[in-house]
Amino acid sequence: MAELEFLFRPRSVAVIGASHNPEKIGYKILNNILSGGYQGKVYPVNPKGGEILGLKVYRRITEVPGPVDLAVIAVPAQIVPDVLEECGQKGVKAVAIISSGFKEVGNILLEQRIVEIAQRYGMRVLGPNIFGIAYLPANLNATFGPSKVRRGNIALISQSGALGIALMGWTQTAGLGLSAVVSVGNKADISDEDLIRFFAEDPNTDVIVIYMEGVHNGRAFMDAVRSCPKPVVVIKAGRSKRGAMAASSHTGSLAGSDLVYDGVFKQIGVIRARNYRDAFVVARALADLPMPKGDRTVIITNGGGIGVLATDAAEAEGINLYSGEDLKDFKAVMPPFGSYKNPIDITGGATVEQYVQALRMAEDKDTVDSIALLYCETAVCDPEELAEAIKREYKGKKPLVVAMVGGEKSARAVELLNEAGIPAYDAPEDAMRALSALHLWQRYRKKRRQGGEELR
Ligand code: COA
Repeated sequence: MAELEFLFRPRSVAVIGASHNPEKIGYKILNNILSGGYQGKVYPVNPKGGEILGLKVYRRITEVPGPVDLAVIAVPAQIVPDVLEECGQKGVKAVAIISSGFKEVGNILLEQRIVEIAQRYGMRVLGPNIFGIAYLPANLNATFGPSKVRRGNIALISQSGALGIALMGWTQTAGLGLSAVVSVGNKADISDEDLIRFFAEDPNTDVIVIYMEGVHNGRAFMDAVRSCPKPVVVIKAGRSKRGAMAASSHTGSLAGSDLVYDGVFKQIGVIRARNYRDAFVVARALADLPMPKGDRTVIITNGGGIGVLATDAAEAEGINLYSGEDLKDFKAVMPPFGSYKNPIDITGGATVEQYVQALRMAEDKDTVDSIALLYCETAVCDPEELAEAIKREYKGKKPLVVAMVGGEKSARAVELLNEAGIPAYDAPEDAMRALSALHLWQRYRKKRRQGGEELR
């Protein structure tokens, strides 16, 4: 995977097609690289020369004085082969081709030509037809997406450009941290499986989320997922017949039979997300929580209704709600009219202290493997105080997910918890879904171990 090192951790980046016009894509990419705090050398390339954003502009890449690891190409498609030849002559290691106008619009020969040129010079190609690449640990944001991305341990790979850009912004407001964002576009060379292999080894990534419309090489994809010790969450679009047709005209992908994808995903241990929101609901838990030892789950709640909703969701998600005799111990942390039967209802009058006691008890019990803590906003239990107490008390030995339903204060409390690495949601169904994904990943791991595979 040495070539992909040059894509993610380049020592120098050239932007070919860096424009003098602040409205153009070539300018935006250069601006994002500079404002993202990238520490390597940056070379704008444009035949007009001059200066952009305070940097000297080179008329061609062959005139750049030092070595160039990564070239980001943002010139019209017809010029790309010539520019690529020059990149090869210069000894560039990897290129990210932003330009559209290749296979996705039927220009198959033009796409083949760029692959052939790149192969001749031993360069790896990301794209074409992409919005770029961002790798946060290297402060590299070579995209024309948002300039600010929250740093974390989730790598996002997107076959859709606009959706990928939108998700970069969305993760920022949802308080989700990313290690990388990679737009794969037409996947002329670098594929999902290449990237999975890179992230499998990447110490900065714990979960891989992929938006895909289709894979080119099913066998290679399966092998890459099987040998990846980290969870791979896939949003596979084109489920319906019409959706598959839309995917075909979007990225030229053959969406294939959805049943086949579903079966293969289960076989190789992919966690399939229902949509992008769902993908990040589960990714948040997979990224932050320890693995459960077993599947016995308890729900602690101050609201009967929210507890019932969570129970319905638990059943739908196949979560094992624990019902052992020792649940009676919870009587000690609730009023006489509470219910110790799972869901453990500490009632609407529950205080922060009672939540803390119930959490401690659930954490200390050997018979409990995972905890869902639910809260409806009340005047007797301030949500932000509760969030602070959970942050302070949670030992982090078994998975804990939180759902807080209420107004602005509850929304802030959810943020506080997420910032502290405790997955929190504004709906009980999300919390249960997150736990179920964690349990599913645990089952996949077990199956792989039984198959003799090494896992973290
Ligand atoms: N080397 C370097 N720069 C060159 C060049 C060359 N051989 N030939 C031209 N340029 C310069 C141009 O002079 C221009 O700079 P300027 O604005 O300072 O004059 C710059 O490169 C861009 O060229 P231009 O012809 O103005 O193209 P553009 O900016 O309008 O569009 C693309 C270029 C790549 C953005 C466009 O062709 C494209 O593909 N857009 C779609 C991108 C996309 O959506 N990707 C998928 C996302 S999901």
